[in-house]
Amino acid sequence: MYRWLDERLDLKGLYHKVLRKAFPVHHSFFLGEITLFAFIVLVLTGIFLTLNFEPSIREVKLPDGRTVPAAYASVLYIDSLPFGAVIRSLHHWSANVMIAAAFLHMLRILLSGAYKKPRELNYLVGLALLGLAVVTAFTGYALPYDNYAVTATRIGYGIANSIPWVGTTLAQVMFGGEFPGSEKSIPRLFSLHVLWLPLGLMALIGLHLAIMIKQKHTQPRYAERVAPGKILGVPMYPQQMVMMVILFALYVGIMTIIAGAFLAHPVEAFGPPTPQTPQVKPDWYFLWLYGLLQIIPSSWEFRLFGATIGPEFIGGVVVPGVLGLVAVLLPFVDTRKDKMRYMELPSEHPVRTSVVLALLVFFLMASLAGYKIDFQQQGSILGENAVLWTLVLGGPLLTFLVSYVLMRVFYGKAREGEAL
Ligand code: HEM
Repeated sequence: MYRWLDERLDLKGLYHKVLRKAFPVHHSFFLGEITLFAFIVLVLTGIFLTLNFEPSIREVKLPDGRTVPAAYASVLYIDSLPFGAVIRSLHHWSANVMIAAAFLHMLRILLSGAYKKPRELNYLVGLALLGLAVVTAFTGYALPYDNYAVTATRIGYGIANSIPWVGTTLAQVMFGGEFPGSEKSIPRLFSLHVLWLPLGLMALIGLHLAIMIKQKHTQPRYAERVAPGKILGVPMYPQQMVMMVILFALYVGIMTIIAGAFLAHPVEAFGPPTPQTPQVKPDWYFLWLYGLLQIIPSSWEFRLFGATIGPEFIGGVVVPGVLGLVAVLLPFVDTRKDKMRYMELPSEHPVRTSVVLALLVFFLMASLAGYKIDFQQQGSILGENAVLWTLVLGGPLLTFLVSYVLMRVFYGKAREGEAL
């Protein structure tokens, strides 16, 4: 069988070209793999959920006599199946892990300069992957159609709707009409969530890995000492593959225990949608956006060529858009060539490292602003808009200055030419 296939597909050639690829041994290189494992678990658990979910808001009667949307009832049904609640929980937590791991993986790429020539293209594919992963998570929010899901999704609908000139059309296309209310919303978000976006993710992940294999990894710094000028690492097959299988099994085991111990998103507790909007906060990866929307005053509104530019557009589109643009432009601005075959050390690049730290503090402080109403209810000073703005803007600025000065003091001026 092997010989038959080899004569036709040149398996030996493929083995030497792809499977003998040297995979560098460095803990930070596992972050991309963990992102991949989380995605695989999401697809597998997602198949189970799709088979039992009803993407409709038609009214159905529960055995206890309550009339609720069919989508909501089908999630209660999933929870009642053997291991149903654990599998749904595993899906939920894996979405969190995928986004967290992709974000940390991106930090590794930023801090080690791996976005530089010749890897600009793969860096851009990576950015698209992170964006697509976040949008996929968002489209999953609405599906259980409980009180939480509807309220959280309505915030996203409001943001899409706030885009000048094209927002209304865009929101109608994405949400299948007005949200909540339109009967087409859940089927539309469902097809995006289970088909189009995962297909996009699969295609981009395939492209990402193909480019990575073609270009080879950046090398950890120790490779420069051990075997200068050479590609150092363990072969993709069998060594790296065995490590990946072990890591994947560990991932599934640990995540299943977590999913069983901390059941995610209790739809029964949230209840079916009601006219009263409950006070809900989105998951951590949307919290910074939600925080910005909390502190941008409603007076930030003006008219431009017949369209309204308002707080939702500024906080929900302009700020993330500017951050995204800066990320896209980075490899074309930071074109200095240095040790690029080897990972750069954060300590050698005080400006870049300090900017990354400042951005992290910005995300943290903007997320803190997401608790504004809670702070106000407790009578805390943190409920004041002025205090939250000071933290959101002043925190990153101070972080940048302190980090830059400390790095200069501790790592000296020896690498003056590598300031960025
Ligand atoms: C769904 C999301 C993603 C998956 C599944 C994924 C997967 C991977 C894997 C398995 C690797 C090889 C191992 C490693 O270097 O960690 C890799 C490398 C790489 N990734 Fe990603 N990635 C994702 C998102 C991103 C993001 C958000 C970025 C940056 C914006 C990015 C940029 C890169 C680059 C530049 C490399 C080559 C690194 C090097 O040569 O050192 N990726 N990715």
